[in-house]
Amino acid sequence: MTVHLVGAGPGDVDLLTMKAARLIAAADVVVHDYLADPSILTLARPDAEIIDVGKRPGRPTPQAMINALLVHLGAQGTAVVRLKGGDPYVFGRGGEEAEALLAAGIPFDVVPGISSSIAAPAAAGVPVTHRGVSASFTVVTGHRESGGSTDIEWEALAQVGGTIVVLMGVAERAAIAARLIAGGLAADTPVAAVRWGTRPEQHTTRTTLGQLGDAPLEAPTTIVIGAVAGLDLTPAPGAGEFHRAASHSLAAGGQ
Ligand SMILES: C[S@@+](CC[C@H](N)C(=O)[O-])C[C@H]1O[C@@H](n2cnc3c(N)ncnc32)[C@H](O)[C@@H]1O
Repeated sequence: MTVHLVGAGPGDVDLLTMKAARLIAAADVVVHDYLADPSILTLARPDAEIIDVGKRPGRPTPQAMINALLVHLGAQGTAVVRLKGGDPYVFGRGGEEAEALLAAGIPFDVVPGISSSIAAPAAAGVPVTHRGVSASFTVVTGHRESGGSTDIEWEALAQVGGTIVVLMGVAERAAIAARLIAGGLAADTPVAAVRWGTRPEQHTTRTTLGQLGDAPLEAPTTIVIGAVAGLDLTPAPGAGEFHRAASHSLAAGGQ
């Protein structure tokens, strides 16, 4: 049996991959993060063991304990799904779990998921690249400790051009904005901050880099910085109804 490191996507259950849904439905044990939408867990067998190792403020589960749990479960020969928000290898510490399983000789595989770094902006009407506006995007953590000893060179990042997508950046947003401006980005650079992207409670805050420090943001939020954040490609209210009516009339032979 294999330990499957599975991406749960950004939250909307419809954004699970078919492989993820199949593996969850077949699993003996599902070990999940707090970001996984609870409705995703209803795909598991009624007799499957569900283990919540979500790291929340005040109730942290040390990564070493999660690694040891996966090795323990894997060694028992059960079908284990390790369900992680977004993509397992995008700031999800999935790489560390893979290293622990490799070291213990436990078979494992990785099922990529749709990362919030692209899904949350898209859900808010922001394309991370756009012809003539941005030809690249850089995904970066705003959490100081995530990169270990390597701090992000925000001033240098300001010189790269293209879109900057910051995950886990709420707490440090004022410092991040100040360093990007010090690095040469204009204070009026558009910013879109998307909380709980793709979930019913999705909320977008539009501001500028100069105002980012004062914007009332809460985690989990994906912060998009750059000209694309000034775009809003969300359908106008009622457009879906028009589209459905038009397709219906065309299907019925109308014009
Ligand atoms: C530990 S990182 C994990 C990222 C995940 N592996 C991924 O690929 O999306 C958690 C951060 O991802 C971002 N995030 C995750 N889900 C989100 C969502 N539904 N909407 C907006 N941001 C989200 C937030 O910045 C959050 O603090």
